[in-house]
Amino acid sequence: MNSILFKNLCLRYIKFSFPKYNLNIMSNNKCTVLTEPILFSKDFLFRQFFDPVSSTYTYLLADINDKTAILIDPVIEWAERDKTIIQELGLTLKYAINTHMHADHITGTGRLKCLLPGCQSMISRSSGAKADILLNPDDQIHFGRHNLIVLPTPGHTEGCVTYVCNEQGVAFTGDALLIRGCGRTDFQGGSAEVLYKSVHSKIFTLPSNYRLYPAHDYSGRTVTTVAEEKALNPRLSKSLNEFVDIMNKLNLPYPKMIDKAVPANKVCGLYEVHEEQKL
Ligand SMILES: [Fe+2]
Repeated sequence: MNSILFKNLCLRYIKFSFPKYNLNIMSNNKCTVLTEPILFSKDFLFRQFFDPVSSTYTYLLADINDKTAILIDPVIEWAERDKTIIQELGLTLKYAINTHMHADHITGTGRLKCLLPGCQSMISRSSGAKADILLNPDDQIHFGRHNLIVLPTPGHTEGCVTYVCNEQGVAFTGDALLIRGCGRTDFQGGSAEVLYKSVHSKIFTLPSNYRLYPAHDYSGRTVTTVAEEKALNPRLSKSLNEFVDIMNKLNLPYPKMIDKAVPANKVCGLYEVHEEQKL
């Protein structure tokens, strides 16, 4: 048997034996970026919302049978919208969660706690922010029968985490990994070297067909995959030294919202916020 035929037979075996973890589709010795998607299970609700001012994505996840919901990275100006949708769908918000202490918008977690009593806020312990529940590495966040695992992915900030749902094949990467980009590393304890190691050891080691949902996108893109970013991310597909050099030369302006957003986000977004916004 010639070697190409043997290889094709092996790939066919892998593809049909392990469909969920099917890695890159190979052809002609080349690795493509296309992968077979893992479909959401029938009892998993997923909604992606957008704040056009800060280009922030907020994610609503829920157990459709149990009606328990969580929100990832809510924005204070959209807390009423989030509350309305949650109530319209008959869901109960269990947790309002942040991937990190944001510098470009004020989190909606504090306001949502007021609007939807019973909801608890969550952020990583290493973020330095206050919340009802401070998350440690490898903690699990349960909502109904579903769960997210907390992976520490520092580098954009010291306290950045990625939330992974293995059953659904998705990860919420915050600003650690953006679509064809990454968060800046020059504020809030950021480090290009740390970020590179986080992404390569924690996100790029996930199965290639996992879908990645970032905290922002500035070009209208909504989702990517591990395979795509490993191959196509113009920064993180490079060597560590090249990446550090790219990040050091970005020369970005001082973040417009940082002096307002960071003090507010240290306390769930309710620092010096008008009383009527809290209620
Ligand atoms: Fe950020």
